[in-house]
Amino acid sequence: MKLWGGRFKKSESKLMEDFNSSLRFDRRLYREDIEGSMAHVKMLSRCNILSREDGKKILEGLKSILGDIESGKLKVEGNYEDIHSFVEINLIKKIGQAGKKLHTARSRNDQVAVDFKLYVKREAGEVIKNIETLQNTIKNLGERNNVIMPGYTHLQRAQVVTFKHYIMAYYYMLSRDKKRILNAVEIMDESPLGCCALAGTTYDIDRNFTAEELGFRKPVDNFLDGVSDRDYVLEMLSDFSILIMHLSRLSEELVLWSSKEFDFVQIDDEFSTGSSIMPQKKNPDAAELIRGKTGRVYGSLVSLLTTMKGIPLAYDKDMQEDKEQFFNSLDTVLSCLKVMNGILSTLKVKKDNTFNAVKKGFLNATEAADYLVGKGMAFRDAHKVIGEIVLYCEDKNKSIEDLSLEELKNFSNLFSEDVYEFIDYENTLNRGIKKNLKR
Ligand code: ARG
Repeated sequence: MKLWGGRFKKSESKLMEDFNSSLRFDRRLYREDIEGSMAHVKMLSRCNILSREDGKKILEGLKSILGDIESGKLKVEGNYEDIHSFVEINLIKKIGQAGKKLHTARSRNDQVAVDFKLYVKREAGEVIKNIETLQNTIKNLGERNNVIMPGYTHLQRAQVVTFKHYIMAYYYMLSRDKKRILNAVEIMDESPLGCCALAGTTYDIDRNFTAEELGFRKPVDNFLDGVSDRDYVLEMLSDFSILIMHLSRLSEELVLWSSKEFDFVQIDDEFSTGSSIMPQKKNPDAAELIRGKTGRVYGSLVSLLTTMKGIPLAYDKDMQEDKEQFFNSLDTVLSCLKVMNGILSTLKVKKDNTFNAVKKGFLNATEAADYLVGKGMAFRDAHKVIGEIVLYCEDKNKSIEDLSLEELKNFSNLFSEDVYEFIDYENTLNRGIKKNLKR
């Protein structure tokens, strides 16, 4: 069943028909397609391009098709070229002659552009909702675990932090992800409906009306650009790529932390799996899968960038490739956000282990140098003195705070009894992260 055919002598080969059809994936756009058509028909009636009666019939027909699809009475499947053909042909089946007037002053090119923009905008809201849920979970996890732990650079123990401060780093990454998505929505918020195939239309249509009706800020300024712009899909895919990169880094931390080597956290049974051969195993599959799925999202971005890079204005069928990439990435990002939320809401932090890890690795060495600076030594000299102390401690298998005042004085006579309080881990935290964050 086709919307065209008048100028053809033969019908399409079955092979071509299957190759060309997008219904099996663009069926996800049925709601937006009907919404777009409704706005279009209202506009056609208002502008006297269509009679009031025809307009009413079409609107009612579209509404009932939407109802039938949502109730499952009408299955979005069959021998149709795409979702646009599906809706239009079913409308004609339902209401007859009036249905054939729906596509006046419209092309599938502006139709698909408006449908997809509506869909991307709506789903962006869904992603943001899930980001916010995850942010709340992170905040709660941090509040519950304001415990001391080692911070790292180069994956070597570096300075003392708290689990709360550590995990909140991800909260702020997610805040930026949210802003990026909102910004992309703001940029894309212009309606392409009325661009028609590429050159607008000679009918006296009202693009402001349809733009407003569909919730866009304004209509686009250029018809060729309006039908061939897929920047908004690319932007969303890049925002998703950065978002999932953040989730992947967090996943990597969880994989490390749940290993016996770190043993900082326990991932709940609900988000772990076992081994078919090794009875003792409990594997962090959920985190590994999030880390692994990152590849798909990057892949979608590179795939669509490549599709778009060589196509001339205006619409080209290449652009039909945008949908599966977006759907795949969207589904991936949404499920990863939900699963990460599940992992973190059930995560146990082993605070004895995070504290014990702090005691090994000289995490107060920087503060010990700062102590000497406080007593009048230049930082570079203090750095050297403490470096020598660390070397000595390594040899004796001791921490800096384990050394006696006498031992410390062998390295510098600026040391006195107050050094122990100064380099105490909790005290360094209070003077550092806690105090400076409040400002
Ligand atoms: N399925 C097409 C797409 O996704 C819809 C637009 C088709 N336009 C056309 N002139 N063939 O891009």
